[in-house]
Amino acid sequence: MSNRSIRVCRFSGSASQIAMPACIQTDTPVFSATEMYSSGTETGQKARADLRQTGPPRGQGEPLVLVCSPRTGNSALAGRTFADACAEAGCAVKLLFLRDYQVLPCVDCGVCADARTEFSECASWRLCPLSLEDNSAALFQALLTARFVAICAPVYFYHLPAQLKALLDRCQLWYQTGLRKKSFMLKQAQRDLYTILLGARAQGKELFRGSLLSLKYALRPLRLEQRETVLLRGIDRIGDLSARPDFLERLRACARTACNASAISPVGGK
Ligand SMILES: Cc1cc2nc3c(=O)[nH]c(=O)nc-3n(C[C@H](O)[C@H](O)[C@H](O)COP(=O)(O)O)c2cc1C
Repeated sequence: MSNRSIRVCRFSGSASQIAMPACIQTDTPVFSATEMYSSGTETGQKARADLRQTGPPRGQGEPLVLVCSPRTGNSALAGRTFADACAEAGCAVKLLFLRDYQVLPCVDCGVCADARTEFSECASWRLCPLSLEDNSAALFQALLTARFVAICAPVYFYHLPAQLKALLDRCQLWYQTGLRKKSFMLKQAQRDLYTILLGARAQGKELFRGSLLSLKYALRPLRLEQRETVLLRGIDRIGDLSARPDFLERLRACARTACNASAISPVGGK
């Protein structure tokens, strides 16, 4: 265990607002990883009690469609089209909008890397001090329990919007969790990831490259593997996607593939 200390930051504002860390305030309490997660602390005891009650997530739950644009535009339509097609195929999905959640950026405090093995068996999001301050735990729970996951996002300067990149950077917690020999992540079933990206440019062979690499390697520690991608070019203004029935049909076809591949029981079935 290193002696690296972390500042537990206090944040102001609701989940829909962009909150600024108050770490710079001199009266902010400073804890070491040992202090926060040692068995004697309230946090450590609660994390273990939670695990005893619920057990680690198994990835058998409702599929997740996560829309990752800050505006209600093309990605939102893509997500709804995908979700509706899933419902038509007999599988209900959870449709979440990342902008409704506050996700603080990773500050490389080192707590997830330093945590002792026993904590890898706890609800791991409790290992990240930031998860006590934002809504990332709810998102990780949805990502870990979903039978499959579809991510819909626009391209921003050849990469992903900042909110999504922040969530991906916070996956460092899961990367570190997976490195531990007895990690419960090793028992977690591998699930399929469907990536739907859209960008304004009609051309450019590198348009989606950075985004696809980040998604692949950040979500792999959560046992999500890319199965299919839908990459849509020439989509810029709100309304551009709704004017492309061919693209909408590609999204519906991808949704049907996802439902069939995950062998979801029809709604009302066993
Ligand atoms: C900050 C920003 C950066 C963007 N960068 C790119 C880009 O590098 N390449 C591209 O093709 N489109 C780019 N776009 C256009 C968006 O990808 C496009 O408008 C997309 O349809 C927006 O999706 P949305 O309606 O779901 O927000 C950018 C848009 C914004 C706001």
